[in-house]
Amino acid sequence: MKLAPSIYTADFANLGQQVREGEAAGVDIFHLDVMDGNFVPNITFGPAICAAVKHNTSLLCEAHLMVQDPERYFEDYKNAGMDRLIIHVEACRPLYRAIQQVRALQMGVGIAINPLTPLSAIEDVLPLVDLVLVMSVQPGFGGQSYIPGATAKIARLRQMLDAIKSTAELEVDGGIKANNIREVHDAGASMVVVGSVIYNDQYPIAEGVHHLRAALSG
Ligand code: DX5
Ligand code: ZN
Repeated sequence: MKLAPSIYTADFANLGQQVREGEAAGVDIFHLDVMDGNFVPNITFGPAICAAVKHNTSLLCEAHLMVQDPERYFEDYKNAGMDRLIIHVEACRPLYRAIQQVRALQMGVGIAINPLTPLSAIEDVLPLVDLVLVMSVQPGFGGQSYIPGATAKIARLRQMLDAIKSTAELEVDGGIKANNIREVHDAGASMVVVGSVIYNDQYPIAEGVHHLRAALSG
């Protein structure tokens, strides 16, 4: 199970150090939650912060574009050094063209679905993507509680990916903690986005990573 910390809840006054500490603690990639205040009721950051993160790690960086009509910005995130872009099925039409555009820029492409969006909305594009992101919270804020119904959706998606022999990552985003990461893993996820359980002011980053790894091996 890969860990993809979301830097959204990191200490932005010391972002480079937070990123280096995360890498040293053994996370697998970095997940950058871009929010435009339109597709979601919150604004976080854009390409400049994504570039700053990329400059402080050798790990893969993926931008989760919670952005309406994200195709307007694909080139900006390419120039920021992003390795993969994750776009919401609810935010861009037509989906095929958006996926082709990301590919043409030589980036990996993921598709994200919100909690109430059915898997049927992405079934046709599963063969075209490197990653599927199942939102297990309503997008827009860190520190929310995991939506229990997401577990059945993860298991169903795992079946759909296996049926087409897809090697795409099955990533889950939102409310992942030591007490539910095993459930999400067992349902078929291959990667989890972890925000407030890693970046918070209660305990060191390495401790959060340790707790999650221990919960998976227990
Ligand atoms: C929601 C965000 C959060 C974040 C994870 O839009 O995408 O899910 O990445 O934050 P936690 O792990 O605190 O839920
Ligand atoms: Zn995210």
